[in-house]
Amino acid sequence: MKRVIEPELMNDPEQAAAYAGSDLDRAYWLFMQCFKKYFPAMNPEGAILDLGCGTAGIPLRLARRFPACEIYGVDGAPRMLAYAKQAVQREGLENRIHLVRGILPHRPSILRRHYEMIVSNSFLHHLADPMVLWQAVREYGLPDATILIVDLLRPESEERLQTVVNKYMPDAPAMLRQDMTHSLRAAFTLDEVTSQLHKAGLAESLCLEKATPFQFAVYGNLRA
Ligand SMILES: C[S@@+](CC[C@H](N)C(=O)[O-])C[C@H]1O[C@@H](n2cnc3c(N)ncnc32)[C@H](O)[C@@H]1O
Repeated sequence: MKRVIEPELMNDPEQAAAYAGSDLDRAYWLFMQCFKKYFPAMNPEGAILDLGCGTAGIPLRLARRFPACEIYGVDGAPRMLAYAKQAVQREGLENRIHLVRGILPHRPSILRRHYEMIVSNSFLHHLADPMVLWQAVREYGLPDATILIVDLLRPESEERLQTVVNKYMPDAPAMLRQDMTHSLRAAFTLDEVTSQLHKAGLAESLCLEKATPFQFAVYGNLRA
């Protein structure tokens, strides 16, 4: 199946509201499961950068699980960030979760220069140029930084795509099912992600594997 790109930013009010609800809890849970699986003994300290943080589903979970960390989330969509800020305030985590508006590859002005860890969930497939993510990993990661990038895999056919949507989002609102359909069409294959890692000079330090039947994970530590 050929890749069909989708708009980068998600600033539609209905989309932002849906992301702030509970329909994506399972997706966030899967991300945290990947974290446990790939870094079983890890209890990180320092600063974590979440690229394309959306409504802060991942920063909130990281903050609860790793109390010694500060989390920086960057996203280009003001509506997503508005929901993210509300959620962070609700949990009283303003001191540990910092949200910044920024459109990569432009450097957001109030971010730290480098981070002990860089994460991202379902962001790569939004980028017209996927190298924007891998360059950000290189640019913002400290030597030896921990990396976990999770995203969708593009299915081989429309038929398989519909099976994935029906299996993993059976009861979600129609808008979210449509969103997942577009996202799967815009996603990359394992071969394409492999090429991206080689091009970015990250293939030797980071591992790539199929994390679930419809997602890949790139994980490991940058070379010091
Ligand atoms: C599918 S959402 C995922 C959000 C979040 N990571 C999650 O797991 O819920 C992708 C997010 O990336 C943001 N985004 C897309 N392209 C971007 C860019 N070039 N710079 C910053 N944010 C971007 C969108 O606005 C959207 O919030």
